[in-house]
Order: sequence, then structure tokens, then C-alpha cells
Amino acid sequence: MADGSRSHFYLILLSVLAVCSASYFAFTGITTYFRRRQIKKQNGCEPPPRYPHGLLGLDFIRATLREAERKKMLDTSRARFDKMGGTYSATLSLQPMIFTHEPDNIKTVLSIKFKDYNLGNRKNSLGPLLGEGIFTTSGEHWHSSRSMIRPNFARDQVADLGAFERHFKLMLRKIPRDGSTVNLQDLFFLMTIDSATEFLFGESVHALKADASTTNGFAEAFNHAQNMAARRIRAGKFAVFFHGKGETEAIKFCHEFVDQFVDQAVEYRRKLDEEDKGAVDEKYVFLYELAKTTKDKKRLRDELFNVLLAGRDTTASLLSNMFFEIAKRPDIWEKLQAEVAQLNGEIPSYETLRNMKYLKYCMNESLRIHPVVPLNSRLAVKDTVLPRGGGADGKSPVFVEKGALVSYSVYSMHHRKDIYGPDADEFRPERWEALRPSWEYLPFNGGPRICLGQQYALTEAGFVTTRILQEFKGIESRDPGPWVESLSLTLSSHGGTNVSLTPR
Ligand code: HEM
Ligand SMILES: *[C@@H]1O[C@H](CO)[C@@H](O)[C@H](O)[C@H]1NC(C)=O
Ligand SMILES: *[C@@H]1O[C@H](CO)[C@@H](O)[C@H](O)[C@H]1NC(C)=O
Repeated sequence: MADGSRSHFYLILLSVLAVCSASYFAFTGITTYFRRRQIKKQNGCEPPPRYPHGLLGLDFIRATLREAERKKMLDTSRARFDKMGGTYSATLSLQPMIFTHEPDNIKTVLSIKFKDYNLGNRKNSLGPLLGEGIFTTSGEHWHSSRSMIRPNFARDQVADLGAFERHFKLMLRKIPRDGSTVNLQDLFFLMTIDSATEFLFGESVHALKADASTTNGFAEAFNHAQNMAARRIRAGKFAVFFHGKGETEAIKFCHEFVDQFVDQAVEYRRKLDEEDKGAVDEKYVFLYELAKTTKDKKRLRDELFNVLLAGRDTTASLLSNMFFEIAKRPDIWEKLQAEVAQLNGEIPSYETLRNMKYLKYCMNESLRIHPVVPLNSRLAVKDTVLPRGGGADGKSPVFVEKGALVSYSVYSMHHRKDIYGPDADEFRPERWEALRPSWEYLPFNGGPRICLGQQYALTEAGFVTTRILQEFKGIESRDPGPWVESLSLTLSSHGGTNVSLTPR
């Protein structure tokens, strides 16, 4: 029968296909095995200690989630390094992982072998809000984003101190002068969104001015979208299945809000190009500079959101973490006051900020003890090698297979006693008189993807700190306990930074 012989034919075809693909996989499996053996041999690789977790690493994952719930995730991950050594491996829900807090390994991932890695699934978690931009892409796209954005930070004096002063004045109105308690963390987050939006869009969202009648809702919507994204990051591989409540609406609101500025900028640029070739901009606006390189509106919006996300919470977190510590330390407050007194009440300029050594020590120390980006990771896009962590003594190179995720802890590295001494856990700004660390200190990352906003951030944080010291002669912490981690997209103080300030 025709039908019978046809099914016979399909059966044979299927068998041939099955045999072909089986031998193909066997063949590639064998060649991969030998190629990897060769790489390991050539580089003297030894396996790193393997974390003794159970099936699929579910116990490891569950413990991590539980510690995150208890706000002790960073110290727990640090304790794992104490137990396992500076580098160890695990396989968590089928994902091969390498954990490290070795400066040499981090330098290799971020700089020496930069091209062997990408960002992994960051796009899954941040994509809906950020689209494709400098913070979410790798390879060619990242390269073009970086060359588009970098010139905006190339100027020595990238931040507008006049704008900082205006935003600071608005914040000052919200600080009680009668000694009652205020949560400075809330205010810092409002101030940095005001200053960042002015810097990026050319117009501030004025979250600090907001009361029922004037609030435009951008800060709230952006916060919500960000928090949902942070939760998705924690879902890891399963990020695509996670969808936050109200997230779509919040993102839509943010996008439409920013699109108005993008439209204006493109229109402005077009007019300038057409009518008046020699015209100069009256005022420096990040977005208007970007619009010189592209008129693609989606691209412009994406890049704006990428930089807003990278720059807003980070600076606010630095300020909140630092004030949490110095509010508890009258000795540090007095030293800062003495330094600020040399300004004779003048509002700080770039020059004066640069010369305030002790202030810089405090910022560095805060970023060491509470690095605002405490954990990070990169995915190997090819078989590669790390210089340390293998063998019984942990000194041999380690083989990293294509598809493995290298997770590095800046937090843990910054607390290492063999690097920073027995008092590594103490907040002691004076240690910076002598410290000149390189890859052992990494608050702003290193290599080709080093933070572009470092100068901007340190200028803003330094400015705000100086101005608070000028306005208030005393500070008192109203947080009874020690600092507790709050790990969202950045690391800040759980419960905020409650203080009471005494005016001059
Ligand atoms: C205390 C404040 C800040 C800290 C600690 C900080 C830290 C970092 C870190 C660790 C990264 C690397 C992320 C990664 O590659 O996985 C980064 C990237 C970046 N930061 Fe910052 N940042 C701060 C403030 C800012 C500010 C104020 C801006 C902009 C106004 C900014 C713009 C960027 C950009 C655009 C990137 C992406 C660079 C790239 O991937 O090529 N940052 N930052
Ligand atoms: C503070 O840290 C930065 C890196 O973030 C470093 O370049 C600088 O030298 C440090 N400052 C001091 C005073 O040691
Ligand atoms: C700050 O005060 C608020 C309100 O009283 C409280 O809920 C919070 O826990 C306090 N924060 C810290 C870190 O103690």
C-alpha cells in the first residue's frame, strides 16, 4: 500500500536523522572534551573547590533567598568565601557558576579578558524599562553606546554646581530645624532624581517640590519600575516569567514622560542643523548633545534611561550610607567640620571640593564598607581561564567553560582582612591617608566598562555633604542599631538614615 510504504520511508528518514544527530553530538562532545583538556593542560588549570550543595543547588538558592529576606545576604556570601577560599564553583539550577573575590580574577574578567565575557541575562531583567543602551548591552551595541555617551563625561567639570545648589536649597527646606528626626535617605533619593533629570533631560522633575498639586508622578513610576526590575534580577534565569504588578503601566508612564523631552531635543537639533550652522547651545544638556549623534528617538530614550538608572540610586545610596556612619561618629563629624570651616561659609567650588581631603577619605571609606554595587557577574561567551583559585592551595589557574557565570563580590573583597587589615570591618576614613589600592578597591568597576559618572557622583556627594556641614553644626543618629543591608539595584540602608540635625 502506498500509505504503508510512505510511513516506512519516514521511519527510515527519522532513523537516519537520529543517527546523524547523535553522532554529531557525540563528535562535538568528544572534540570539546579534548579541546578543553588541552586548554586546561596548557594553562596548568586545577579545579577550584566545589561548594557542597545538593541536587540542582536548590538548598544553596533557598539559603540565599532566606538570607536576603533576613537582610544578611552579603555577610553570608562573605562567610562562604571564608569557608571555601577566594574562588569556588557550584551549579545552581543547571547554571555553572564560579564565585570569586580575588582581585586578580576580577581584573581578568573585567579587563584582561574583557572580550571573553558579556553581561548575561541583564537584558531580561532591565530590558522592559531600559531597552537597549549602555547599561544593558554587550558587544557592538554597547561599543556604540559607550562612544555616544562618553564624550558627555569627558569634560573636567562635568557637573553643574549651580544646579546642585538649587536642588540642595529645596532639600534644605525639608530638613527640620527643631531637632526632630528626619530620614535623610528619602531626601537624598529625591534630590538625586531632581539633579539627574535636570542634567539628562534639561528639565528637573522636581520631586523635592512635589506636593499633592504639583507632583508629576515620574519619580514614583520610575521607582516602581526599578523595584520590579530588581526583583526580576533575583529571579535570574527565570526573569522572563516574572512580571511585576503595575509594572507595565509604570514603564509606559515613564517612557511617555521622557518621550516629550526626546521630541523637543530632536526638533531643536533639526532646526539648528537646518537653519543656523554656526549656532551654539545656550546651555549644556546631555540629551541635546546625544541628539547630535542620532535622531533615532527610541535610541535616545533608551540611553537616557540607562544613564538615569546608573546614576541616580548610586549617588543617593552613597550619601545615605555615609551619613548613617558619620551620624554615629562625633569624631568624624568634627574633623569634617574643621575642613569645611576653611571655606569661610562660601559655597564650595570645584577647586575647593578637590582640596577637601578628609571628605574624600569619608566617601572612599563609605564606598569600601558599603559598596553601592556590591555583587556583580559576567557570563563567559567562550572557554576561558582565570588566573587564581584552582588546586589545593587555590593558587592555580581555573578553567571557565563557555556559558559559566562568574559572580564576583566587591563587598567581600572590600572587607578582606588580608587586604585591609584586622580592622577591615571598621569605618575608619583615616586609613585612606596611606592606602593606594588598585583592583582590591572597585566601587566604580574597572576596565572598558568602568563607571562613566564617577566624577559626577563624587562631586555631587561631596557638594551635598559640604553644604549640610555648613548649614548644621551638629548631627545625632536616630538609628538605634547597626547598619543593615537593603539590596535592591543598589545597596543602601534598610530603614533609611534617621538623624536629627542642629542648625548653626
Ligand atoms: C556613587 C555613585 C556611583 C557608583 C558607586 C557607580 C558604580 C558603577 C559601577 C560599579 C558600574 C559598572 C556596572 C557594570 O558594568 O556591571 C557603573 C557603570 C556605569 N555608571 Fe556608575 N556609579 C555611580 C554613579 C554614576 C553616575 C552619577 C552616573 C551618571 C550620571 C553613572 C553612569 C554610569 C554608566 C553610564 C555606566 C555604564 C558604563 C558601561 O557599561 O560602559 N554612574 N557605575
Ligand atoms: C579614593 O578612591 C578612588 C577610586 O574610587 C581613588 O582613585 C582615590 O585615589 C581614592 N582617594 C584617596 C584619597 O585615596
Ligand atoms: C527610622 O525611623 C523609622 C520610623 O520611626 C523606622 O521605621 C526605621 O526603622 C528607622 N530606621 C532605622 C535604620 O533605625
